Amino acid sequence: MSDLAPFLQTLRDRLTITEVIRPHVKLIRKGREYSGLCPFHQEKSPSFTASDEKGFYHCFGCGAHGDIFDFVMHKQNMPFMEAVELLANLLGLDVPKRQPDPASGPVQPKPDVALYEVMEAACRWYQQQLTLAHGALARTCFEQRGLLPETITQFRLGYAPEHGLQAALHKQGFSEALMLEAGLIGRAEERKSTYDRFRNRLMFPIWDAKGRIIAFGGRILKEGEPKYLNSPDTPAFTKGKTLYAYNFALPATRQQEPLAEALIIVEGYMDVIAMHQAGLKSAVAPLGTALTPEQMALLWRSPGTPVLCFDGDGAGMRAAHRAAQKALGVMKVGQTFQFCFLPPGEDPDSLIRSGKIGELHGKLKNPQPLVDVLWSIFMQGRVLSTPEQKAIARRDLGHLMKEIADPDVRHFYREDLNNRLLAIMEPKGRISSSSHQGKGQWRPFKSFLSSTASVPPSFVVSRIPPNKNHLGHKILLATLINHPTLIEDAAESLMVLSEGTEECNLFQAMLSIMAEKPTLSAVELQDFLRQKGFTSLLAEILTPQIFSLAPFAKETAEREEALAGWREVWKKTVHEPRMNEERTAAANVVATHFQAEDWEKYKLKRLLEAEGPATEGTAIYSLREAGHQPSQLLETQAVFKKDEK
Ligand code: UTP
Ligand code: MN
Repeated sequence: MSDLAPFLQTLRDRLTITEVIRPHVKLIRKGREYSGLCPFHQEKSPSFTASDEKGFYHCFGCGAHGDIFDFVMHKQNMPFMEAVELLANLLGLDVPKRQPDPASGPVQPKPDVALYEVMEAACRWYQQQLTLAHGALARTCFEQRGLLPETITQFRLGYAPEHGLQAALHKQGFSEALMLEAGLIGRAEERKSTYDRFRNRLMFPIWDAKGRIIAFGGRILKEGEPKYLNSPDTPAFTKGKTLYAYNFALPATRQQEPLAEALIIVEGYMDVIAMHQAGLKSAVAPLGTALTPEQMALLWRSPGTPVLCFDGDGAGMRAAHRAAQKALGVMKVGQTFQFCFLPPGEDPDSLIRSGKIGELHGKLKNPQPLVDVLWSIFMQGRVLSTPEQKAIARRDLGHLMKEIADPDVRHFYREDLNNRLLAIMEPKGRISSSSHQGKGQWRPFKSFLSSTASVPPSFVVSRIPPNKNHLGHKILLATLINHPTLIEDAAESLMVLSEGTEECNLFQAMLSIMAEKPTLSAVELQDFLRQKGFTSLLAEILTPQIFSLAPFAKETAEREEALAGWREVWKKTVHEPRMNEERTAAANVVATHFQAEDWEKYKLKRLLEAEGPATEGTAIYSLREAGHQPSQLLETQAVFKKDEK
């Protein structure tokens, strides 16, 4: 690694961070820094900043942070060395070759070059057969499916006649053993003779990400089984790690070609080809199986959120559900999918061929986020009228959330889906004015206000909605966990955490543990909390991301520093939002309950108050000065009298 260091420094010196970021983020200059909308999380106002001087970017919203290499790795989902290569290419430089590192253990043997060569030769031969007399029917098939000659050329489509491949490759010097290894020919077990694997089929070569042919799919010309025959896995080809047309689609998304902001995943070879021909150049397909985690990882290497496209019929829905569920196990922060359901019985190829490309565009433009699809899977056939059904729903949701491997992702999904479930189980109309004393979760403020309309503004107490300030809450809790002596003082201020949430349970547990054993150290407190079942929540809270955002939360920080940081975050994420809500609430009460004339009285009263302690005489004098009528003054005095009682 060390021999690479000077080269990395060269890249850092020659490329500014904003140059690297600018193709992905619209940056606006703010003094010496730049700001824009963070490309790593959804946001409406910019909290992403970059500084060429420092060579770093930082997002105050999600904590994303790093240098040119981090940006490319994170944005393009690339391993480090690929990011280095990409940046070097921008400058027209070659990455220096590294010495093999004997300590890194045995490397998986690379497939022999000959394997790629024989596949390439086979492809050329199939392409050539398509142009010959016996390829006439195959040509007609492609034409009938609307493929243009340039598409046939780009996708290197071909024809495999009854026989001839083996002899042709043999003539070119390829051995039988190599052809067997490549899966181009097979050998019947009991017989010695070999045979061409693909016979009388339309041939679709399959590439790896580097554009080398590693397999074929062969479609039967007319009807028959199997419709598609694929190459077996070989040292160069693993079906579950390959996506058809990825070699075309990934560059299209990275170069941000029109209509290619994100990869689009469809079912079949023909769908991919028809889409590329129609200008949708980011289409890819798995090879006849459900998406594997490896294929998902490939999809997330592109910018944009990949869109999974399914037939709108029952089978398509089931396939979508399987994909959604599988994604839960592999998603990390910033990785997700969107879903698009086509009209039942249609695939992209059939839509395009029947002139409904507009409909396809429309569907692709309005995909559903994963969380919506999960929710509809979860709610399918579910009734929530009895307490038992509600309890089962809550339990099932818990089980579903356990499938999310990444703690941060899990946290937000749990919050979102829990809220949806609560909204269904406890419709707004039933909320009573006692909600701030009751056991319930936080309620949407509007409904709360409407049921407490007779309560004067100063009595309106809101709770922090659980879906807000999660990061702030995490920082607050992390600080307290690492500085237990602050817990008692924080008790009052954190009472606004909404009851029933895991965060609130954790805080209550911390309070009760510390009440019994006030001298516990941070480590001891954590042990107690783990015993009480908060292991996974602790793992979600005590993360490097939290500590890089809030260094004062670390155990090594001084108590004073921790306290100051805690207060600051509390003010920003708990106190001020709550004050704002109360102000809005007060304004709403005023707006709905004061008639115009009341409003005048209210203003007069405020004016008098502003004058300070006054005798009736001076008050009346200053009101006259301010241009008010004596009749109003009498009413104002009445208001005063009422208030004094
Ligand atoms: P489809 O049956 O939807 O095929 O299978 P298609 O791509 O729409 O093909 P046309 O339009 O009938 O020509 C979708 C994908 O499933 C795999 C292939 O990858 C195919 O593209 N498949 C299908 C197989 O591997 N084997 C089969 O027998 C059938
Ligand atoms: Mn089809």
